[in-house]
This record gives sequence, C-alpha cells and structure tokens, in this order.
Amino acid sequence: MAKVTVDGIEVEVQEGINAIEAAKAAGVHVPHFCYHPSLAIVGQCRMCLVEIEGMPKLQAGCSTPVKDGMKFAVYNEKVDKARKGQMEFLLINHPLDCPICDKAGECPLQDYAFNFGSVTSRYGDYKRTYPGMDRTPIGPHVVQNMNRCIHCTRCIRFCDEITETSELAFFKRGAATEVGVFPGTPIDNWMSACVTDLCPTGALTTREFRFESRVWNLSSTESICNGCDVGCNIFIGQQAGKIYRYRPRVNPEVNDHWLCDYGRFSHERYETDRVVVPKVLRDDYLGISTWGEAFDLIEGAIKASTGDKIAVIASAQMTNEEAFLVRKIFIDELGSTNVDVMVDPIGPIRMKSRTEWFEGTQAGPNYRGVRSVGIETKGRSAESLMDKGAAGIDVLYITEASFSARTKDPAVIANLRQAGFLVVHAWEDHPLAAVADVVLPAAIFAEKSGTFTNLQGRVQKIHQAYPPKGQALADWEILRRLEARLNPAASLVDGDDVDTITDELRQSIPFFQNLDWKEVDEFGSIAATAADGGAAQVP
Ligand code: SF4
Ligand code: SF4
Ligand code: FES
Repeated sequence: MAKVTVDGIEVEVQEGINAIEAAKAAGVHVPHFCYHPSLAIVGQCRMCLVEIEGMPKLQAGCSTPVKDGMKFAVYNEKVDKARKGQMEFLLINHPLDCPICDKAGECPLQDYAFNFGSVTSRYGDYKRTYPGMDRTPIGPHVVQNMNRCIHCTRCIRFCDEITETSELAFFKRGAATEVGVFPGTPIDNWMSACVTDLCPTGALTTREFRFESRVWNLSSTESICNGCDVGCNIFIGQQAGKIYRYRPRVNPEVNDHWLCDYGRFSHERYETDRVVVPKVLRDDYLGISTWGEAFDLIEGAIKASTGDKIAVIASAQMTNEEAFLVRKIFIDELGSTNVDVMVDPIGPIRMKSRTEWFEGTQAGPNYRGVRSVGIETKGRSAESLMDKGAAGIDVLYITEASFSARTKDPAVIANLRQAGFLVVHAWEDHPLAAVADVVLPAAIFAEKSGTFTNLQGRVQKIHQAYPPKGQALADWEILRRLEARLNPAASLVDGDDVDTITDELRQSIPFFQNLDWKEVDEFGSIAATAADGGAAQVP
C-alpha cells in the first residue's frame, strides 16, 4: 500500500495504481479523455496533467504510478493553466455544436469546455472539417461525426483489446488524421455500440438512440439486462414509461463497462401492443374482465382439480421472488407434480468482466435462479406439454406467454390448449394468450423490483423504473393475490411488497441464506460456485 497526498488530502491506495485512480480514492477528479480503466494507457490527450512534488514538469496522471509518500496537485495555478492550454488545442477544430449534438448533457468534452475552455480562440475562426463525414454509418449501430473527434483512440483500443476485431484505425496523418473503418469491414462486432459509450465526445453515437431524446429528459434506474443469463448491469433510461436506452452500469465482476449489442437494444421488444387488462373466456369470446372475476375462475378451476392434474410452466424471466411464490403455491400448497421452467438457448453471447470472459447461453436472466428455488423438471415437462400436448391436465398455469419463441408456433399453441383450463400471464398481445381461458396482464422486468441470479450464481437486484402499464401487475403481485385466494390464511397484508417475499425466500431456501445482502445491493453476491460455470448447480 502507498500513502499519497492529493491536493492536501491524504489517502492510502494500492502502490502502483496511477495518479488518476489515486486521486479518485481521495475524492478528487482528474479531468481526462484518453484514459479508461479497462483499456491500455496511451497518454495521448494530455488532459490529465498533475504537478508532482519534486518534479519540475507536469506529468500525465494516467501514466504516472503512485509511490508511498508521493504528493501531487490536481488543481493549482500551474496545472489549471496547462489544462486550459490543452483545452484550447482540443477546441481549435471542434465544432462546439452541443445544441445539436446527442452527447450533450453527458459529454466530458462539453463539461471540460465549460470548466476549462475559453470563450475566445487565439486560432481564429478557421476550423478543419471532414467533409462528408459528419453523419456516416460505420456499422449497423454506430454513426460517426468525424468533426467532433478528438483522436483519443478509445474506440480503436476497444476494438483491438476487448473484442479483438480491430475494425477501427487512424487513417491519414497530422491535422488530417481521421478515425475510420477499413473498406468493406464495418464495425459490426457483437459489442460494437460500446464505442459510443467510450467516446468522450459526440463523434460516435448509436443509430437507435440518436435524436430520440435529450439525455436530461430521461430518468435512469439501476437494473439488470434480461437478454441472457450473464446478467449485465444496466441503467434503464426511460421517460413516461417508454424505454429509450440501456446503458452499461459498471460491475467489474460481471460486465465491467460493457454491454453486447443484442442486450443493449433488446428493449425494442417492448415497443409492442401491451396487455393492460385481465381477460376471461366467456361464450367463446375472450373479453375484458375484472381482476376479481379472473381470480374467481382460476380459483374454481384449481379447487376442482388435484395436484397431479395441475401443471405449471415458469419463465426464466421471473425474479427469484416470483419463482419462490410459484413453488410455494403450486408445489408446497397444491402438491402439483408437473412444474417446469423453460427457456430458449441463445448465443453463446460472450461478455467480459474485468478479469474473465463469460458465455451467456440462455435467453433469460434468471434460469439458474428459478431452478435454485426448487423449480426443476418434474412430471410432465414443458417440452413434453409443448410437443405432445397437455391432454389430461386440468389446469395449465403459464407465467409468461412468451417464455419461448416456440409459443408463437400454432402447433405448440394447439398442444398447450389441450389443457382443460389455461391461465396465461402476458405482457404483450400474444397468440398463446389469445387462446387462454384467463389472461392476466403482467409487468415487464423494468416495471418491477426483485432479484435475478446469473450464470455465476450471483444474485443481483432489479429496480422498478416506472409503474406497470394499465392494470398490469408484477408477477409476484399476481401470485400473492392468487395465494391469498387459494389459502385465506396466507399472508396478503397491507403494504406487502417484494422485500417481504425476499425475506421469506432468505428464510426458506438454503441457496439464498448465505448471501451478503449488502453486496447484493452493490455488485451482487455469489450464492454458490459451480465448476461448470454455474449452468447446473442448484441446491
Ligand atoms: S471517435 Fe471518439 S472515441 Fe474514437 S478517437 Fe474520436 S473522440 Fe476518441
Ligand atoms: S451479454 Fe447477456 S446480459 Fe449482457 S448485455 Fe448481452 S444479452 Fe444482456
Ligand atoms: S488521460 Fe492522460 S494523457 Fe489522456
């Protein structure tokens, strides 16, 4: 360890980390552009200059390792003057078109221009431009405006060092230097849009989010990507219940600073007609009902049956809390012998933590978690109900109409419909819901809170970004109400919330007992390790 002093603040840090990170530990921000903690250090932008006691010249903080006893200044007259000079150079050619730039509001160059820039330039009005390169698609997701580039090379290093696809490079020399792709090789790797997060200016933006919303109009909520079982940490950016984007949220243990393109844009699936009211089948017509009427029918059908004739297909999109309620109601209380969780295979999607690569192979975020509460293939499996039919089953309860892409196949729908009574939770207008006896409007993951368990066995929290649409409810709330109907002694209490169920889960299921719940709040907590990468281990 090393004791260093930053702007008079003494802090103990790991010896050898750079001055930017040491200053961060002391709560001091060192302005920088080219430095990124997960990319190689190139010392290129000279924005991170600091004054180190005993050294005559200013040093680049990104490439200066700290030693015990080192003292340095981030903010003093000498450093401020150098930083202002550097900004003047960087802004010689930059268009400063923040009012029409999508990065405005979250742009380091804009922030530093306000803090360290000058309102006048000693270089006159002439600016070098890149004619024809101000809105250039350089890949399926990335649009480039070369006029805004400050040549920091973060985007180039990402493609060289992380995806190792090397689509981007510098072309030409001197003031004409430009970032570009080689002819015929667009930036089309599976994590390509990460370069738009890395770019410290509006030079790289995504085709999908460009001009959709000003960033300050969006609310941001911490959650977990539900595209696969890696469980990348995200911010959901939404306004009035419309999701505009997911941004990576740093978790060194899972996705570091990254998201794959599939996951990043997977919120587009929610731009569809939503199911917003309960519906019941009356006289061959599936019509709007009240929640009470829908529960009356479900209660009647379940009470007229026996456990061996009740089947449940759970979805890997359910939270641990919701899966726990499925287990409690259907396995523990009703004695159902036909309970399964089904998810489609995906990818594999490669994702890099700070230290290792993972491969997402399940198209749901919580396949491991749902099984960890005890929902495994028992009796008639989901596959067999889909392929061979549900004849002989009195009540088939499906917790998400779109639990598999195959549920849009008419043959699969016909097979599932063989059940005497079909209950479906649905968030989208779905052909399987269209043939159900009861359709219950369900929230999507962004509309609820709870926990997911990723492929490592890491339990991570999702938070509600906005309330469910219409009369839709989170699956846990639907199941809680059903539980109270079937067993009036069960606890449906005023103020019942997902935390109550998390507590029940922690008390009942060994998998969750040893977690550090403070860690769950931050980077997640590992419930168990599995030699197979976490694919199969359940208690
Ligand atoms: S495009 Fe952005 S990330 Fe790439 S070199 Fe230019 S400023 Fe840096
Ligand atoms: S790797 Fe999986 S969890 Fe991560 S962003 Fe992609 S789809 Fe989402
Ligand atoms: S951040 Fe240090 S030189 Fe760019």
